Formats: sequence, C-alpha cells, structure tokens
Amino acid sequence: MASKAATSSSIPTADLESFSSHLQSSRRILALLGAGLSASSGLPTFRGAGGLWRTHDAVSLATPEAFQADPGLVWQFYNYRRHMALRAQPNNAHYALAQLARKTRDFETLSQNVDGLSQRAGHPGDKLHLLHGSLFDIKCGEFFCDYVQKDNFTNPVVPALAIPTGEIDPTSNAARGARELDISDEKVELPEVAIRDLPHCPKCKTGILRPGVVWFGEALPRDTIRYIDDWIHATNKIDLILVIGTSAKVYPAAGYVDTARARGARVAVVNTERTDAPGSGLTKKDWFFQGDAAEVVPQILKPIIGELETRAQQA
Ligand code: APR
Repeated sequence: MASKAATSSSIPTADLESFSSHLQSSRRILALLGAGLSASSGLPTFRGAGGLWRTHDAVSLATPEAFQADPGLVWQFYNYRRHMALRAQPNNAHYALAQLARKTRDFETLSQNVDGLSQRAGHPGDKLHLLHGSLFDIKCGEFFCDYVQKDNFTNPVVPALAIPTGEIDPTSNAARGARELDISDEKVELPEVAIRDLPHCPKCKTGILRPGVVWFGEALPRDTIRYIDDWIHATNKIDLILVIGTSAKVYPAAGYVDTARARGARVAVVNTERTDAPGSGLTKKDWFFQGDAAEVVPQILKPIIGELETRAQQA
C-alpha cells in the first residue's frame, strides 16, 4: 500500500432525508472502513492526534524496513496494539454495520482496520474483507516461507512482550496484580527485547514471526482484491458506497471510492473532519455526515436496521 494526498473540493451538506430514500432503494452497497470507526472504542487513528506512538510516527513502524531494522521495537508496538484491541469493545457503528451487512443481500465491506472489532460485533465474515490483514494473524517474516497462524489471541504474544508493570520481577505475584504501564508514553522505559525472545517460525525454523498486517510497500491480499474486483465489475451497477472513518489517503484502498463511483455509486462519508473527503472529492449527489461514527452510523442506517442490537461476541 502507499499514501497519497486527497484533493480538496466543496463538501455537500448532509441531507438525511435524501440519503434515507437512496439507502432504502439501494440494492448493491459497498462500505470502506477506516480507523475512525474504532476511535470511540478507544483505539487511536493513524493520522492526526494519536498518530504518534512514543516518539515514532505509527506509519513509520508499519514497514518491512522498520521490522528488519528493529523487530523487537516493531513487535512491542504491535503487541501493544493487540493488547489495546483486545481490551476495546465494538461500538455502535460496528454493530450497525454488522446489521446492515446481515440485512442487505448484495453488500460487501472493505475494512482497512486490523483490530478485530467488526468481527466481534458479529459482522458476517463472508461480507468483510480485510484489506490490511489482522493484528491477530501471525506469519513468518521470511519471503520463502508461507507459515500463517490465523486468530492468535495470545496476549502477550510471547512472555518477553508483556507490558511492563514497574515491578522488578515480571513473574512475581505482585507484578501480575500490578497496574500495567502505558508504553505509548515515551517517558515509560521500554525493556529491551532480544531477538531470541521474539516468536519464531515453527515451520522454516529460521524466520521471526511478524504481525499479519499489510505494511507500506507491500501488496494487498491477492484473493481479496480479485474477489472485490469481480464484485465491483459484476453486471449490475453499485448504488452506494459508505466511506466511514477513513482519511482515504492510503492507496489502493482509497481508490475504491472512485472505482465504485465509476460503477454508478453515490458516495456517503461519515467523518469527524470535513477536510477528509475521499478520492477526487465529493459532488452534489453525495453526502457528508460530520460526526463520531459511533453516533452517526446507527442514526443514518436506521431506515434499514431499525433499533440497534449490541450483543458482543467474544474474540
Ligand atoms: N468518527 C468518524 N471518523 C473519525 C473519528 C470518529 N470518531 N475519529 C477520527 N475519524 C476520522 C479522521 O478524521 C480521519 O479522517 O477517521 C480518519 C482516520 O484516518 P487515518 O488515521 O488515516 O486511518 P485510515 O484511513 O484507516 O488509515 C488507512 O493507513 O497507516 C495505514 O494501515 C494503516 O489501515 C491504515 C491506513
């Protein structure tokens, strides 16, 4: 994937009535989701506030080069994100989208999120395509090895990556009960993690395992892209694309907005920032709903989903 600045344009105002009527008549719907969807679940986004992890730009840690240079640091970052994602709960936007997906036969979701919250909100798996992988998949870092472990929720992923508590002996009972330190705070000292203490590949026996997420400079999952491209170019046009909580600056994911538009879709954006209009901008036929996705999404989807069901599923 790669980053690109979006062009600015005039933003149409939100018109709930016209959106509701279009939503109700839509047969084929695509949704593109980003980190803002999980913001009110307490997970930081990548750009804007929260984009720094310690002194590092979070994006700069999401590269194969960063992993090669310092796998211990990159694992500390991802182990922390796994920890935070497991502690977080899906919010009402995750539940509302899961319900919309269940109620709309011809519906596909492209998620850039790796946090597992849509899955835990019961979003149907066959309608959820993870463009950037998952924090809970772990794979071998060697290019010649195809080892992948799906849905590994072990936290910490190896003992050496346990979040420090300030106790001298991390295996003591006192340490187990002690409050974990916030290792996103750069004033908290990070323990050194030796390469031998990182997870190693049980298949090739040489590689260090790495998070199963798509890093900058890497290709998106081929089967997912093929499936989505087939869906987009099927005979019938697309009626609507929902663009929720994404800065739409990272390609190829962001390119789906213009692709869907070229196949007939009208665009509805939900974002806290009016500057984050996707792709080549919005037209008068589109909608921009400004606000927190957790509040806005259940409200705008009400004509289809009705009242929200919020039964959390366990990871
Ligand atoms: N509700 C709706 N939108 C929100 C909220 C919220 N509560 N909070 C923040 N946002 C918006 C921000 O205004 C921003 O436009 O969510 C967007 C988050 O943008 P990014 O941080 O750039 O996240 P995303 O678009 O998902 O990034 C794409 O970049 O670093 C990579 O792989 C990473 O998948 C990620 C990709």
